[in-house]
Amino acid sequence: MLAGKRILLIVSGGIAAYKVLDLIRRLRERGAGVIPVMTRAAEQFVTPLSLSALAGEKVYRDLFDLTDEAEMGHIQLSRAADLVVVAPATANLLAKMAGGQADDLASTLLLATDKAVLVAPAMNVRMWQHPATQRNVATLRGDGVAFVGPNEGDMACGEYGPGRMAEVPEILAAIEAALAGGPLRGRRVVVTSGPTHEPIDPVRYIANRSSGAQGTSIARALAGLGAEVVFVTGPATVPPPAGVEVVRVETAREMLEAVQAALPADAAVFAAAVADWRVANAAGQKMKKDGTGLAPALEFAENPDILATVAGMSEGRPRLVVGFAAETHDVEAHARAKRDRKACDWIVANDVSPATGIMGGAENEVTLITAEGAETWPRLSKDEVAGRLAQRIAEALA
Ligand SMILES: Cc1cc2nc3c(=O)[nH]c(=O)nc-3n(C[C@H](O)[C@H](O)[C@H](O)COP(=O)(O)O)c2cc1C
Repeated sequence: MLAGKRILLIVSGGIAAYKVLDLIRRLRERGAGVIPVMTRAAEQFVTPLSLSALAGEKVYRDLFDLTDEAEMGHIQLSRAADLVVVAPATANLLAKMAGGQADDLASTLLLATDKAVLVAPAMNVRMWQHPATQRNVATLRGDGVAFVGPNEGDMACGEYGPGRMAEVPEILAAIEAALAGGPLRGRRVVVTSGPTHEPIDPVRYIANRSSGAQGTSIARALAGLGAEVVFVTGPATVPPPAGVEVVRVETAREMLEAVQAALPADAAVFAAAVADWRVANAAGQKMKKDGTGLAPALEFAENPDILATVAGMSEGRPRLVVGFAAETHDVEAHARAKRDRKACDWIVANDVSPATGIMGGAENEVTLITAEGAETWPRLSKDEVAGRLAQRIAEALA
């Protein structure tokens, strides 16, 4: 299972760093290659020499090492492994990962990698239980980062509680599980995201306030569980996630075409805020004021209904079709009616009235409507909503 695999092992500055010497030995015994990376603080706990001697590889420590950049740049290094393992993961490094910081080699590699990431946190019990650390862990889980430990037990600092790094055999088992792929390995999922732009003329368009944040988080979480994700996105303000196939579209009609081209798939998640109407008499040239004071009359035509089209396919319909219902009132009733009308399997309903701050914001409060009924989730970050939904999709496709 581990033979021939390459592990990028990032060691940060915790007292448990000594345990990674044994981890490296065990990985190599099983035929895996280990590329060690150390933070500055890690060098206070174990020497680069010990790591490189056990790994049989050069230890990478500096972002701005010109020789390394000539031999292997930091982007290439971040991709040169089958799995990225952070052990021990300090509270500081978890915070940097959760915040998307990249101010040294370790954090830059973690931001640049397109590979799965497994972290083994190790810290004092108070540091682990601190709301800031728990927020960071929740964010990272939502981003698809896998965790092993920490365990409960006696700590080097003399306190007792959760915070001890997982033992080497547990980390080895988690590495094997991560390399075997997540529960969605071998599954293909189409995700739509963002708004659509419907042209009025070549320079003007009708759009909506969707940022693409929720769809992007869902695509990332699905990919984190091992799915092959086709991400069909309108002109969103949030950049698409790494590790997915990105198809960029502008209009609702282009989005439908891109979705149909991406099928067959095991599941389809339609998180995009698709315009219901397009301008039927869009001008081929920029419209000009003609001096009469008369405003142009726009005529509207209904756009194709992507959710209903795919959910209603008689052949090649994805096994699970998930729609979103953005409502401003009577959310659950409207969402239930939408699920029946569109013949989709699930509806993720949310209240997008301006007072909620959901549209364009970082949080979401959703109700999941399935054949079994309605389930209201607490207000969560969009990443956490995505993580939960991806787990449910994995269970439904299992
Ligand atoms: C003796 C000693 C032990 C430490 N052990 C830990 C630890 O187990 N976990 C942790 O999160 N931080 C620990 N720290 C604090 C980190 O070393 C510190 O936050 C550092 O900035 C982490 O840098 P890094 O994340 O870049 O490796 C320890 C500090 C000292 C002085």
